[in-house]
Amino acid sequence: MDKFVIHGGNQLHGEVEISGAKNAVVAILPATVLAETPCRIENIPNISDVFIIMDILKQLGAKVKMINRTTVEIDGSHISQPVVPYDLARKMRASCYFLGALLGRFSHAQVSMPGGCDFGVRPIDQHIKGFEALGAEISLEHGMVEAHAMELHGSQIYLDVVSVGATVNIMLAAVKAKGQTIIENAAKEPHIVDLANFLSSMGADIRGAGTDVIKINGVEHLHGVTYSIIPDQIEAGTFMAAAAATGGNIIVRNVIPKHLESISAKLIEMGVQLKEYDDAIEVISNGVLNHANIKTMPHPGFPTDMQPQMAVLLSIASGTSIITEGVWDNRFRYVDELKRMGANIQVDGKIAVIEGVDHLTGAPVKATDLRAGAALLIAGLIARGTTEIEDIQHIERGYENVDKKFSALGAEIKRIKFPESVPAAV
Ligand code: EPZ
Repeated sequence: MDKFVIHGGNQLHGEVEISGAKNAVVAILPATVLAETPCRIENIPNISDVFIIMDILKQLGAKVKMINRTTVEIDGSHISQPVVPYDLARKMRASCYFLGALLGRFSHAQVSMPGGCDFGVRPIDQHIKGFEALGAEISLEHGMVEAHAMELHGSQIYLDVVSVGATVNIMLAAVKAKGQTIIENAAKEPHIVDLANFLSSMGADIRGAGTDVIKINGVEHLHGVTYSIIPDQIEAGTFMAAAAATGGNIIVRNVIPKHLESISAKLIEMGVQLKEYDDAIEVISNGVLNHANIKTMPHPGFPTDMQPQMAVLLSIASGTSIITEGVWDNRFRYVDELKRMGANIQVDGKIAVIEGVDHLTGAPVKATDLRAGAALLIAGLIARGTTEIEDIQHIERGYENVDKKFSALGAEIKRIKFPESVPAAV
């Protein structure tokens, strides 16, 4: 696996273009199997999670044709076997969306238990609760989840926890079910709304996405469409955080400012100056940051996927800060790596207490998961000396050309070949 080598200390200046949203595209690409005619999806990010999903679609029998670097045409009309290969599906969390999509189309689906970032237990009990409410029988054997229904029918489903994945999967299974489905306590993330907009443009009857009650009236047919993925809220937030930490002045282009409100509010609280435009945000920082407390929550709360990145900023902020992880059981695995760089962080369960230090120092570190890797990248940008980040495949799951984008902003970062290490779980 390659690694990133970063020489810290440069301020960031210039402009960066945000790519399509990972967590939207990994739901929308599987959803194309519901269409009876081809779909054209634009603004897709060139990240490894997308390439895996395209491989799964091809193995299912769909025709997948890249029109250009960010546009793909998918024709799933010839898919006959609703079974997703084990070796591919286990590589990522979003492969489980094929359960909902294939169940929605064939009333039958077989997918391996999902993989993805490892920060504690990642159950799918709410997904299964939804499928069973719609009339499916579920079996878990040999690492595979199989869902089977004589006929899917609408139902009222109250999620026990706010779950992005369960909300996505139930939507996918319900759009062609007979009758009305109501999802209560639904997730409200921007990528939920993007999926609902995509399905509606295919002819689905969905109301309420973005609120905690989503109503779906099943339809018989869904047709192909051309659709553009929303910009990635977390990639944008990551670049904003990096500019805040290094100091400097950057313009983050191709964003939807409303999706960034909780991140912007926190950065302003920490002393960062932001200027909002229609589809861009300017970040102006002298690199001096105030301490702050952060509690991650489902949208519109502060996004958990920005938690590791913000911990780096708080590591060099003045004073004591507290992060409470409100979504995942154990999303502080990156802290040990940050401590190698001089961060002063104490973790107790879902709480991290951060004492700001004067500076971080470069060190060899390992990315333990996608956003942990992003955090270490920001730490390398501000540390004194050189930081080497191993296992960067985690970072490249969710960030397109991240080294080139940061280099263009003035960061000293390069990618170097590294002897094959033990394949890390992605
Ligand atoms: C999605 O994961 C995202 N992944 C994650 O982003 C993100 O951290 C998470 O939502 C929360 O926003 C994708 O969209 C591909 P959940 P997901 O179901 O769907 C519990 C990234 O960095 N839960 O909303 O797996 C669960 O344990 C990735 O881009 C159940 O108990 O998350 C967690 O505590 C990392 N039972 C909470 O709900 C279930 O059946 C939220 O999980 C499902 C979830």
